[in-house]
Amino acid sequence: MKYIFILFLGLVAISMTGPIDNDLNLKSTSETEPSEVIAKKVDSLLAIMTLEEKIGQMNQYNGFWNVTGPAPENGDAAKKYEHLKKGYVGSMLNVRGVKEVRAVQKIAVEETRLGIPLIIGFDAIHGYKTTSPIPLAESASWDMEAIRLAAEVTAKEAAASGINWTFAPMVDISRDARWGRVMEGGGEDPYLGSKIAEARVKGFQGDDLSNIYTIAACAKHFAGYGFAEAGRDYNTVDVGTSTLYNVILPPFKAAKEAGVRTFMNSFNDLNGIPATGDKFLQRDILKGEWGFTGFVVSDWGSMREMIPHGYAKDGKHAAELAAIAGSDMDMESYLYVEHLANLVREKKVDESLIDDSVRRILTLKYELGLFDDPYKYCDETREKEVINSKENHDAVLDVAKKSIVLLKNDNNMLPLKKSGQKIALIGALASDKNSPLGSWRIAADDNTAISVLEGMQAYKGNELTFAKGADVSVGKTQFVFETKINTTDRSGFDEAIEAAKKADKVVMVLGEVGFQSGEGRSRANLDLPGVQQDLLEAVHKVNPNIVLVLNNGRPLVLNWAHENIPAIVEGWHLGSQAGHAIAQVLYGDYNPSGKLPMSFPRSVGQVPIYYNHKNTGRPTIPAPNLVFWTHYIDEDNSPLYPFGHGLSYTNFKYEDLQVTNNYRVSGEVKVSVNLTNSGNVEGKEVVQLYTRDLFASVTRPVKELKGFELVSLKPGESKIIEFTLTQAELGFYNNKGEFVVERGEFEVFVGGSSATTNKNSFEL
Ligand code: NOJ
Repeated sequence: MKYIFILFLGLVAISMTGPIDNDLNLKSTSETEPSEVIAKKVDSLLAIMTLEEKIGQMNQYNGFWNVTGPAPENGDAAKKYEHLKKGYVGSMLNVRGVKEVRAVQKIAVEETRLGIPLIIGFDAIHGYKTTSPIPLAESASWDMEAIRLAAEVTAKEAAASGINWTFAPMVDISRDARWGRVMEGGGEDPYLGSKIAEARVKGFQGDDLSNIYTIAACAKHFAGYGFAEAGRDYNTVDVGTSTLYNVILPPFKAAKEAGVRTFMNSFNDLNGIPATGDKFLQRDILKGEWGFTGFVVSDWGSMREMIPHGYAKDGKHAAELAAIAGSDMDMESYLYVEHLANLVREKKVDESLIDDSVRRILTLKYELGLFDDPYKYCDETREKEVINSKENHDAVLDVAKKSIVLLKNDNNMLPLKKSGQKIALIGALASDKNSPLGSWRIAADDNTAISVLEGMQAYKGNELTFAKGADVSVGKTQFVFETKINTTDRSGFDEAIEAAKKADKVVMVLGEVGFQSGEGRSRANLDLPGVQQDLLEAVHKVNPNIVLVLNNGRPLVLNWAHENIPAIVEGWHLGSQAGHAIAQVLYGDYNPSGKLPMSFPRSVGQVPIYYNHKNTGRPTIPAPNLVFWTHYIDEDNSPLYPFGHGLSYTNFKYEDLQVTNNYRVSGEVKVSVNLTNSGNVEGKEVVQLYTRDLFASVTRPVKELKGFELVSLKPGESKIIEFTLTQAELGFYNNKGEFVVERGEFEVFVGGSSATTNKNSFEL
């Protein structure tokens, strides 16, 4: 029914355009054109386009054009070039830098019949040249303004480099640390994930898309990609309705509500249908129920991948399925450009669907101001000024500090004293200037991050000795190459042990190299890769005063470290300024306030592990020695570090958890708590509110995050923190996909992590 409705709308819009006006003003005239004005222009343009030109707008090619040389060399590139000149390309990705962008844009604008500008897409995921922390790290800040700002910096630099559109934010929820792309998302929780989605969309797009410093964002991967079976990238996804509606879809909806202009569908098969060919997701939910007016781009080659999925019989069939399902733009499958015109002529795909897609794509090009000035993002002077500016580096340093999570700090081992100490800094990652740039850093120059060694060297008061200990990886670790882990070479151990023996304190930087997480980087083991665990234990034997600084793109299994190492700092891959951020935290110039956005398991066997699990019918031991309850015989159920966990150099006390239940009068339940900084230094705390709906028509999780606030307090200071719960926080999606609020008993918890037991209750 909804599908028919969309078709109908498409037809009405076409008939409203009337006869073709040959004196069309295809240019947008002002910076902030109202949507009706843009809609008229789009319709007028659509009316003079041939079917092939329309389909061309739905075709996206990867960059091929070497601006320093003449014609492309191989056949494929020659074809792309020919298509570009004919107006059969609507968008390109991976063309970057003002010079390159201008070259391809010139062809589109000056050599094609209608001169429609290209929209230039790029994976500016966590920074461009100036790199911010990986998104999982940023999410640990729980600081929406910091996250927004990081996206703004990314947008500014990408836009200055000719780019108009980023393939971010990735809003896929994941509960599986084996999946390498957890580094690119907001973690395991749909509520936090939704707030982050909103912040990142606002950061990229700003309030005015036509501004030269903003770019269009893309919520990806629609949908379910983070639930790949066994955490193996691209694997099958099979989830129930409740998980789809309550966990997977909310951050996408939040991105849509924040105004995101594009979506990307995903590689995976969701409940038997490859997402690219999924009409239910794209037409019924996204464009139908949610009223999304932007466009959907496929993921790279995902249209063609419907053939090996066993869903499409050949390329032509895949194009048909994708167009009908609502995939508006084909990224690198070459199927629309090859088959769509014939499919329309054969009446297998209705032309109104093509018009609908093209209308969406052209609308965004108008909104970006590309019709006004196709070269508006192409200014060499601006490119030089904006990229790698001091202001951008200051901003990413700030976000990096906010992203650090203090996992453990026995006997106030941290912060380190600033003078009179002998410090041994150990670990190849400590001097690594590449890994902190993370996995999605295709625009960043190699080895440009501040290493931990450099960050520590900025503090002159102590005697600092560095020993590598052991390489984490050997061989090439570039984006396209396999990362080979060192599992044999221990030749640097002795030097590290000697350094540790002489030191008062040892700082060990261990974890994953930057390319060990990210796309195609799933892991079956979550330990410290290679010989690092051996190095840690060898150093510990001679000096147990160790601060372990982790550099990683996913939760790791750290049981031994947790039991034996007094202080553990989660330092992720923190971007261009990583080393300064970590050193400032280690020396106490910044008091950490990050909280984990994903649970850290005790064992890979616990994965998927997440705080908002269901209770089951057998949650507790029925009697001593009885086996019949939900548990492992060789491991605890709980994670090592729960979602929301993170310490500070001060302490916080939660008291007086109050509930004022006015739900039946005003539709609101107010919850308050008195928070006190009971330690000796100023600090920030993320106050977290969780609810539990004790019984419902669909079983609900044991806890669900429904509010949080980042609060800064001076030593001894107290503050009453208030939350308001409304239908939005108290309801859930039932198995028909309807949002419902059901009467009954609720528990409410407020504390400093998802493990809090500080609770009260109320009844709706
Ligand atoms: C494949 C990835 O899944 C997607 O996230 C990315 O945007 C595209 N490649 C383009 O690089």
